[in-house]
Amino acid sequence: METLQQIAARTGAYKPDAYLPIYQRLFEPVRFMPLTLLELGVLQGGSVKMWEAYFPYARIAGLDLDPPELPLSDRVRVFAGDQGDTRLLAHIAAEVAPDGFDIVIDDCAHIAKLAKASFWHLFDNHLKAGGVYCIEDWGTGYWPTWPDGGRLVVQPDSGRRMPSHDVGMVGFVKQLIDELSAPEIREGVDAPEGRASKFSEMQLYDSVCVVKKAAAELTRPVSKAASHSAERSGPLCASRRCASSHGPGNDVRRARSSAGSAIPVSGQRPSH
Ligand SMILES: C[S@@+](CC[C@H](N)C(=O)[O-])C[C@H]1O[C@@H](n2cnc3c(N)ncnc32)[C@H](O)[C@@H]1O
Repeated sequence: METLQQIAARTGAYKPDAYLPIYQRLFEPVRFMPLTLLELGVLQGGSVKMWEAYFPYARIAGLDLDPPELPLSDRVRVFAGDQGDTRLLAHIAAEVAPDGFDIVIDDCAHIAKLAKASFWHLFDNHLKAGGVYCIEDWGTGYWPTWPDGGRLVVQPDSGRRMPSHDVGMVGFVKQLIDELSAPEIREGVDAPEGRASKFSEMQLYDSVCVVKKAAAELTRPVSKAASHSAERSGPLCASRRCASSHGPGNDVRRARSSAGSAIPVSGQRPSH
């Protein structure tokens, strides 16, 4: 069976070599499931063709300002438009994944304002609980030559402040860490927790950020005791690796935040 790397080489996906093992690890356990996937940014179509071959039972959508004509199967649709156009994103979801996407990959403009608009619209409205949202090339925020990037200026720590780079895509990804930390946004260790995070986990790699959506019910504040019974497993939790990380022996954060895609996307969500 072909690996993702082999397929990428064959289809001409425009993905740095370092990204493919990340996706291979993440997606191999669910490769043969009837998933729905949206990729923002199609270029010549190499990655859309790659996902089509890698996920033989998935329904796949691509979006690009200027998509090419591609010979694709009827499992794949490619749309023309802007990633920041939330009405278009809603239209794509209604056409391809009315129950929500399992996987969204943003390999598009890599401009923070646009990436953030797409992220929150798709995450809140069109990503299944337990689904994953991958943001590529967030390292552009460190590039002085990138439209909204900038050179890292190391500022000295002062007192409690540990300043860090907050430019462009780097700043956006660091804002996502604030969302991950929502329960800790409270007065102190004995104070009630803040609301539950909308994220069950975030994985950060050099230039790839993977966010996993929590179960809808967990995006409301929950007590620590209640959180222990909140374990579920959905399509993207189907791996042995994931299954073995679930269970009573795990810490509160993981129990509180694990997700299940069986929970309707229409569940109540806090505003951000
Ligand atoms: C890095 S390429 C995509 C590569 C492709 N995913 C692959 O792996 O083969 C980025 C694409 O995003 C598209 N793009 C840039 N800004 C966009 C925007 N605001 N809305 C939609 N597409 C955009 C460009 O036209 C370009 O084709």
